[in-house]
Amino acid sequence: MIIQTFVLTAFQQNTRVIACEKTRQAICIDPGEQSDELETFIKENSLKLQAIILTHGHLDHVGGTSAMHKAFPDAEILIHDDDEDMYRALPAQPLMLGIAPDQLAAMGMAYDEPPDVTRNLSQGEAYEVGELKFSIRHCPGHTQGHVVLAEERERKVFVGDCLFLGSIGRTDLPGGNYDELIDSINSQILSLDDDFIVYSGHGPETTVGRERTTNPFLTGRYQIGKGRFL
Ligand SMILES: [Fe+2]
Repeated sequence: MIIQTFVLTAFQQNTRVIACEKTRQAICIDPGEQSDELETFIKENSLKLQAIILTHGHLDHVGGTSAMHKAFPDAEILIHDDDEDMYRALPAQPLMLGIAPDQLAAMGMAYDEPPDVTRNLSQGEAYEVGELKFSIRHCPGHTQGHVVLAEERERKVFVGDCLFLGSIGRTDLPGGNYDELIDSINSQILSLDDDFIVYSGHGPETTVGRERTTNPFLTGRYQIGKGRFL
């Protein structure tokens, strides 16, 4: 399994190319922005990009979809139905974050209308990339249509902005819900074995076991609303 990470955008988002070593079939998870390095990696390694998979609709995860679509027009574009409206509203997203219109170009956020979604991902779907097989797990809470992708045989899970090393995703943005996020993490991520490597949308890799035992949001050490570590 090939995993190549590109840290992109002002938000330091982990855009990843995942490929089956044997068949060279590949996907790109969350292209944050246009990147020559990203496109060159796919071409120089003779990878066949079959899909752009969006864990959720936030701008730092989908901002590069248009450029990827132009470079690899045969790749399908997949996102959960519940985040498709947010994806389509990409040009307006920076304004919702309070970024002034005259700052958009300088910050690389002057987005055009994104390309059409090919189809929606759904809970429990098995998605094959050559000999790799991902299970699609719906994890609402950071956004309503967030999905994570688990590869059981390779013991790896790609979690977007649900879970980070020692932390969890924001729940104060539109569509966010703290209780829902904790439920999603428990049922869809911590249900995997401890040795699964966790690839987050920002920051370093971790493991399911490490987060299960040390992440203060998951061990109950930190309780939101109580404002303190227990
Ligand atoms: Fe996000």
